[in-house]
Amino acid sequence: ALKLVTIGGGSSYTPELIEGFIKRQDQLPIKEIWLVDIPEGEKKLQIVGAMAKRMVKAAGLDWTVHLTLDRREALKDADFVSTQFRVGLLEARVKDERIPGYYGMLGQETNGAGGIFKAFRTVPVILDIVKDMKELCPNAWLINFTNPSGMITEAIRTYGHWDKVIGLCNVPVNAMLSEPATIGKTREELTYKFAGIDHFHWHRVWDNTGREVTMDILKAMYAGRDGGLPKNIFDVQFFREQVDQMKMIPCAYHRYYYREEEMLKHSLDEWQGVGTRAQQVMQIEHELFQLYQDPNLDHKPAQLAQRGGAHYSDAACEAIASIYGDKHTHMVVSTLNQGAIPDLPEDHVVEVSAVISASGALPIAFGRFQPAERGWLQLMKNMELVIDEAAATGDYGLALQAFTMNPMITSGQRAKDMLDEMLVANEKDLPQF
Ligand code: NAD
Ligand code: G6P
Ligand code: MN
Ligand code: MN
Repeated sequence: ALKLVTIGGGSSYTPELIEGFIKRQDQLPIKEIWLVDIPEGEKKLQIVGAMAKRMVKAAGLDWTVHLTLDRREALKDADFVSTQFRVGLLEARVKDERIPGYYGMLGQETNGAGGIFKAFRTVPVILDIVKDMKELCPNAWLINFTNPSGMITEAIRTYGHWDKVIGLCNVPVNAMLSEPATIGKTREELTYKFAGIDHFHWHRVWDNTGREVTMDILKAMYAGRDGGLPKNIFDVQFFREQVDQMKMIPCAYHRYYYREEEMLKHSLDEWQGVGTRAQQVMQIEHELFQLYQDPNLDHKPAQLAQRGGAHYSDAACEAIASIYGDKHTHMVVSTLNQGAIPDLPEDHVVEVSAVISASGALPIAFGRFQPAERGWLQLMKNMELVIDEAAATGDYGLALQAFTMNPMITSGQRAKDMLDEMLVANEKDLPQF
């Protein structure tokens, strides 16, 4: 019987996760689900936890759902630990977006200075969790969803020395859910190969006759068919000539780099107008928690689809079911490269198509990239390594190096001033600096 633990249990995504477990009830002999949060999140934990209990009950299941602020009690003898927490809460995300905005730059949950600071705040906490796991559940698998997901997964391996970890994102899931219909196919008829790093990967697709259909999908997306763009990302089209040249489908987040000017302009417009994404999410979250308080609601409400992470449980619960059931499922995960992408170091984390079974993720070889994509990828991966080392050590020089490498941060005195301002603004969540 399985003991599942979710850290950051008060998240509004929790019903999505519970729904994913209920869907897989025949594959997972679940006994206990532990939702863990911190005092600041207790109110949310109680509301969404009660909702989770109603969902389990409505499904006729005898699982016990525990709500706790005691992480160590939850982790004791756990089989799977998933993480979906936000250090500093949404207030910190507001700063990640608003401070760069003052400097005329784009700060976002996983990109620009915002993504760097989200990593700085999160790495100390995840390393503490890994320390507890070594003592309390040394055989458990860690399924990381906490952003920046790739960098956090890298920190777990490189600085936590914990191997049983899989990092996840819903972007590849969304792509594989939406794209087949754009060319009149089903998911089962297509073979997907993804490679890169989290929020910075490309993919190619083949049909059931062996013909590559990557360009067909791109053409359909240019004609306006839905390719699965997450709700949080502004829809600026890629330059067609550029994508036709690379002959791969860039991920949704590539537009922050390929159309940086337009994404920056949109972000600064929102910054002055409706508010940043964090401010919009606060509003969506408020509505969701109103709904969750309804004692008659016992299924995931449609409104959750307004969040960018929709369909996330299709990744998290499937990863757990695939490991537990030795299913050999194709999934796109953050895992050790091991040569699947020869352009990146083999002993670091990449996001890649992989076979998921009881032994974890076996990455599928993708091969080399052309110079343009290789250059971007090597810059971005090495920047991630610099960010993680800065986060793990609190080295100011490395933090400045990360800012300088980041394509969305201009280099010079203003970048340094912005770094200093963000260090002060985040002081309570940065014990290492
Ligand atoms: P949220 O703001 O609702 O935070 C979730 C919970 O984490 C809150 O209840 C909060 O109190 C709790 N928390 C904060 N610090 C904690 C700690 N130290 N220990 C335990 N709990 C703690 O966040 P959300 O919008 O639901 O997102 C949760 C996380 O998932 C974020 O890191 C977000 O970036 C990430 N996310 C990832 C993807 C992906 O594709 N990988 C998609 C969506 C969201
Ligand atoms: C997605 C991503 C996440 C991202 C999130 C933001 O698209 O895959 O990694 O950070 O959604 O969603 P939100 O609703 O919080 O803006
Ligand atoms: Mn993601
Ligand atoms: Mn820079």
